[in-house]
Amino acid sequence: MNTPSSTPANNATPWKHVWITGASSGLGEYTARLLAQQGCTVSISARRIEQLEAISKDFENVHAYPADVTDAAAVKAAAQAAEADHGPIDLALFSAGAWFPGSLRDMRVENFAKTIDVNLMGVVYGMDAVLPQMLERGSGHISWISSVAGYVGLPNSAAYSASKSALISLAESVHGELQKKGIAVSVINPGFVRTQLTDKNKFPMPFLMEPEPAAEKIVAGLKRKKFEIAFPWQMVLILKTLRILPYWLSLALIKRLA
Ligand SMILES: NC(=O)c1ccc[n+]([C@@H]2O[C@H](COP(=O)([O-])OP(=O)(O)OC[C@H]3O[C@@H](n4cnc5c(N)ncnc54)[C@H](OP(=O)(O)O)[C@@H]3O)[C@@H](O)[C@H]2O)c1
Repeated sequence: MNTPSSTPANNATPWKHVWITGASSGLGEYTARLLAQQGCTVSISARRIEQLEAISKDFENVHAYPADVTDAAAVKAAAQAAEADHGPIDLALFSAGAWFPGSLRDMRVENFAKTIDVNLMGVVYGMDAVLPQMLERGSGHISWISSVAGYVGLPNSAAYSASKSALISLAESVHGELQKKGIAVSVINPGFVRTQLTDKNKFPMPFLMEPEPAAEKIVAGLKRKKFEIAFPWQMVLILKTLRILPYWLSLALIKRLA
């Protein structure tokens, strides 16, 4: 893996302490490494303890707080421990995600439930763990990784698209209220990025990106406090266009993707 070097390079970020869930691999891991390299203290959470420890061994300023994001108490305990050790969390990035590819013929209700639990409720539990302190301080930044699959309901992706569109709605819903209280909200909508999550895909993935440039786009957008950070532009354009077309046309086009 090509990962950023282990020595903090500069203090170019607006955050002292960042907490990232889903940081044991993929976008969460790459973003954690990049922010650590830029000088932030980064607290990382996920279930795979060995992966978290391997990442934290590479940096003095990365610390592991294992948690399953479907366990509200464990998520809160991880955030509390991170704040007790390293001070207030300035930026929370919720990256944990689950994806079970398959058509409705193969649908398993337990996978549907797990997708909603990890992708949606995992973010809600994360918010619950950091928002009270941010509201008290009147500052902070919360963010989560949704997907371009949340713009429209994609074929063979019922649970995933449903969970990701809920995350976009969640961001739209809380943005106004939190902005008034000094808290920024960002929703990150990537297209296909090469990670363990997409390694299981057997279909062609147009405009597939590598995780390093994806993490760079995420960090650059967060620094600008952008409400939406979406890439690559080609996937964003195609799927946002489908979203604004009338249903008779968009559903016909989406059917052809199936
Ligand atoms: N790759 C893409 O093309 C793409 C595109 C759009 C959006 N996304 C989103 O980006 C996010 C990151 O995915 P990725 O592509 O980087 O895949 P990934 O490498 O598989 O990372 C997923 C992360 O989620 C964590 N996770 C899963 N279930 C968890 C649970 N119950 N509790 C705590 N952590 C859990 C995993 O850690 P443990 O297994 O150690 O718990 C892992 O760190 C996801 O939300 C995904 O939906 C990815």
